Amino acid sequence: MTAFESATKVGASAPTVAGNHVRDAAHAFYNDKVVHQFMVATMFWGIAGMLVGVLIAAQLYWPALNFDTAWLSYGRLRPLHTNGVIFGFGGTALIGTSLYVVQRTCHARLISDRLSAFVFWGWQAAMVGALVTLPMGLTQGKEYAELEWPLDILIAIVWVAYGWLFFGTVTKRKVKHIYVANWFYGAFIIGVGLLHIVNNLAIPAGMWKSYPVYSGAVDAMAQWWYGHNAVAFLLTVGFLAMMYYFVPKQAQRPIYSYRLSIVHFWALISIYMWAGPHHLHYTALPDWAQSVGMVFSVILLAPSWGGAMNGILTLSGVWHKLRTDPILKFLIVAISFYMIATFEGPLLSIKTVNSLSHYTDWTVGHVHAGTLGWVAMITVGSIYSLYPRLVGVEKMFSTKWIDAHFWVHTLGVVFYIVSMWIAGITQGLMWRATNADGTLTYSFVESLVATYPYYLGRLLGGLMIVAGMCLMAWNLYRTWQSAKEPVLNPVLAPHPESARA
Ligand code: HEM
Ligand code: HEM
Repeated sequence: MTAFESATKVGASAPTVAGNHVRDAAHAFYNDKVVHQFMVATMFWGIAGMLVGVLIAAQLYWPALNFDTAWLSYGRLRPLHTNGVIFGFGGTALIGTSLYVVQRTCHARLISDRLSAFVFWGWQAAMVGALVTLPMGLTQGKEYAELEWPLDILIAIVWVAYGWLFFGTVTKRKVKHIYVANWFYGAFIIGVGLLHIVNNLAIPAGMWKSYPVYSGAVDAMAQWWYGHNAVAFLLTVGFLAMMYYFVPKQAQRPIYSYRLSIVHFWALISIYMWAGPHHLHYTALPDWAQSVGMVFSVILLAPSWGGAMNGILTLSGVWHKLRTDPILKFLIVAISFYMIATFEGPLLSIKTVNSLSHYTDWTVGHVHAGTLGWVAMITVGSIYSLYPRLVGVEKMFSTKWIDAHFWVHTLGVVFYIVSMWIAGITQGLMWRATNADGTLTYSFVESLVATYPYYLGRLLGGLMIVAGMCLMAWNLYRTWQSAKEPVLNPVLAPHPESARA
């Protein structure tokens, strides 16, 4: 029996309820209430964060859309977008799915309902804090770490509580094995906690103002160690956990190679931490540190693609399902975008390539191949996969709508990233072009004019993506409506072979 089967397979007596005693009754069912809350919040932050993305994309085309209002200005809305989608949408989806997966793979209810509620409401409070403070211009000015110290402290407390809840449930598991998805979720929790605390060490200078304990190049290094590893441990490792659970589940096949998944895990964990300096090429950071960042980034291609192949080849023997199952299409195309982003990333980290790409829209294209292609699509596929089980119906309300969502999202991402690739490379080439006498061939404004039409292409892509997300929200709502009554999903007894003594 494979590890996936042993972690998720149900014993002969299934569906049985673990424990016969009355005192165990509360533990007889999974805590799906909190998972459901997280799914609803994911949809909320996803649509809100992407709408702000559409607004700033429109502002880059029609700057007057800031209506001369400070809190609608680009500089304030951009961090609102990044925080909304990374932490609001991505973070909420990761916490929610991890609580779903850890219960199923450990055959145990979450250790505490109160702690679960605290994690949910605490995380939402922090997100609302971001929603209020960022448009007010309250920021530390560090990318992806903009929130000021009171919110940082709240996040740190919630995060420790979340770690306690997750690992506590793992320790209470009824199976011997810890399924690999939990390893990835575990690394995401430890990694993000560590990054958040170290990079946000600051001295408060008032209620909404603080100064980092680091200065100069050290501050930059700490910030991009954080910035890159937020990409690594949140936007990558966490979502790989989703891949390792939901792809086999939806395909009804064990993961292609369990051994490869373990190699994948350790390789990513040990290499990612050193790649941060590729964000600081040609800066005051020592040259050797930049080169270390570049070398580790190039090496990252191997485990990234190895892991991706592990996900895709899980479909061996059942490729035909892609024709009829749009959820699987979401999951597999997500992995393909992951491959695009993790091919492009090592390329961009090479110093000579970076001298062309840095400061251009090529980086923005890379970012959204990763976030809209990989992160959003694996999340959407996973939610479609778990939601019917969560509410106790056989399938989503409309499979056709899922298919429509798949196409509109995929085309939207293609519009977005192709526009940015063309715009970015055009900018890079125009900025470096020189005449025979050494003067610049093009003024900055000329490069802006040349890339202007592509901003409209991105806007169109963004609108398509948001439309797809709204269709998804409606489909989820109708699925929830079609469930007759609130369902309690019983904690399944593990297969006797894999049960813990
Ligand atoms: C409808 C979908 C989206 C649209 C229209 C959109 C649009 C934008 C725009 C216009 C920018 C600013 C680019 C610039 O400053 O030149 C941006 C930046 C960014 N967005 Fe999005 N976005 C979308 C979805 C997402 C999602 C789902 C994520 C993450 C899960 C995300 C993560 C980011 C990040 C990390 C940046 C900063 C990039 C950098 O600093 O290079 N976006 N987005
Ligand atoms: C092997 C994997 C990857 C490597 C080596 C890599 C490398 C890079 C490099 C070199 C840059 C440009 C730095 C600059 O010029 O400033 C970059 C930017 C970025 N990448 Fe990746 N990337 C990888 C995968 C991903 C994935 C999968 C995602 C998203 C899910 C992602 C998200 C980002 C973001 C958000 C930025 C913009 C950071 C900023 O300037 O604000 N990357 N990456």
